[in-house]
Amino acid sequence: MAAVSAWRGARARVDYAVATLLGRPRACVLDRLFAAYPDFYHMRDYGDERMDAIAEVIRREVGDCASLGDVSVYEGYALGRVADRLGVANLSGCDLSEVALDRARGALSGSFAAFDLTRLYDDPAIGLPIPRPDVLLVCECLYYVGPLANHAWSQSWIFRSRKLGFIAALRRHARKAVIFQHFGSRQKDAIGELVVAAGGRKVEDRWGIWLLPATA
Ligand SMILES: C[S@@+](CC[C@H](N)C(=O)[O-])C[C@H]1O[C@@H](n2cnc3c(N)ncnc32)[C@H](O)[C@@H]1O
Repeated sequence: MAAVSAWRGARARVDYAVATLLGRPRACVLDRLFAAYPDFYHMRDYGDERMDAIAEVIRREVGDCASLGDVSVYEGYALGRVADRLGVANLSGCDLSEVALDRARGALSGSFAAFDLTRLYDDPAIGLPIPRPDVLLVCECLYYVGPLANHAWSQSWIFRSRKLGFIAALRRHARKAVIFQHFGSRQKDAIGELVVAAGGRKVEDRWGIWLLPATA
């Protein structure tokens, strides 16, 4: 039995590595990986400084925030920690993985829905399947979205107008602001440059946080 689950875990890792190398992982690949390895990304091991920084930016730059949404809510860890710091109880989130979403539902109360962000990238008019929050979090996920995924989000000029259309769709879904946070050195500047082109600004360097005010 242990050998079977070890083999399944190893297979899930290989499938994920291949999918990421060739483009981006599909829902079934992530579901198998997350089922085998809870908190596969070791988000808890990074500690809470990232969430402290995001909460501080919202407090300082946005002010009152009554609702928070997260477009890649994963197991709910980042959303829950930011919400705790701001005292926000109205939460929502979506994610490609049902396995991750089930863990988020177990950890937090709110509105959670399965959704592939690439659908919004392909058709910015469809919107997101969650209520419109004051602040929408877009953290550590864009490199999984759209054609060429990580490669495209590491260079701002690749598919620039499509990425700007997608960013505009995210912006329409926020009442007050969208927070973009990606700390990988190549992605953070390329994504940040697009957020600035869309009308946003850099608000924190260490974790790579850019703020895009909602459309007036
Ligand atoms: C590195 S984790 C980041 C989790 C969380 N946003 C955070 O910052 O802690 C990436 C998350 O993106 C999700 N994801 C990957 N591809 C996606 C897609 N196409 N649409 C929506 N979510 C996706 C994964 O399931 C995972 O939960």
